[in-house]
Amino acid sequence: MESKLDVILRYIKDFFATDYSGHDFWHSYRVYKTAKTIAKSEKCDEELVIVSALLHDVDDHKIVGEQAIPFENAKKLLKQLGYDEAFTDKVTHIISQVSFKGADSVVPDSIEGKIVQDADRLDAIGAIGIARTFAFGGSRNRQIYDPNEKPKVGLKEAEFHKNEGTTINHFYEKLLLLKDMMNTETAKKIAIHRHEVMEQYLDEFYKEWEGEL
Ligand code: ADP
Ligand code: NI
Repeated sequence: MESKLDVILRYIKDFFATDYSGHDFWHSYRVYKTAKTIAKSEKCDEELVIVSALLHDVDDHKIVGEQAIPFENAKKLLKQLGYDEAFTDKVTHIISQVSFKGADSVVPDSIEGKIVQDADRLDAIGAIGIARTFAFGGSRNRQIYDPNEKPKVGLKEAEFHKNEGTTINHFYEKLLLLKDMMNTETAKKIAIHRHEVMEQYLDEFYKEWEGEL
């Protein structure tokens, strides 16, 4: 018999099969694994963490479009799996709070939400974060870098999502801000090293850009 976890994994594998924007199945899988690790050091509902981590992107507007019915996919799947309304509401509430929305980002009001948000943000930084960012930029026809274009920090949610800046600017608009936005102690520790990896990467990038080394 397939477990609930197996069904959700199969669902997201299928769901993200055609994503090339850095929000593929493996992103959700890593967020699930990292969230599980963080959950070990926190007093929390582990099943709620796991289910929310696995489903955190299945109703994201970047993937399903602006017109999609809110949380339609998560709700449908959780109903099929026999989860009650109270559990489903908690999951959709967490998913609604996880995303980075520029200056409109929120701190989740539950420990489970904080864990999932940390895990999602950890996957946006470090070596994997760098890879995902360029994958996203490529998928949206963005320039890698333009020295004449300055980063736009502190944008509100709508402007942040409309921003079509270079991928290098995205480091300053989001990725380098995440270290200080982690909620849990475990994530704060992991973020320090991943942040340094990005800073070293950018140093190297500018040196090569100028024909140095
Ligand atoms: P969240 O996971 O907080 O909802 P997003 O889905 O917007 O955030 O972003 C996830 C990842 O997609 C980012 O960390 C980055 O790697 C990539 N990404 C999103 N927007 C951009 C952008 N404008 N330029 C480059 N990469 C981006
Ligand atoms: Ni995500």
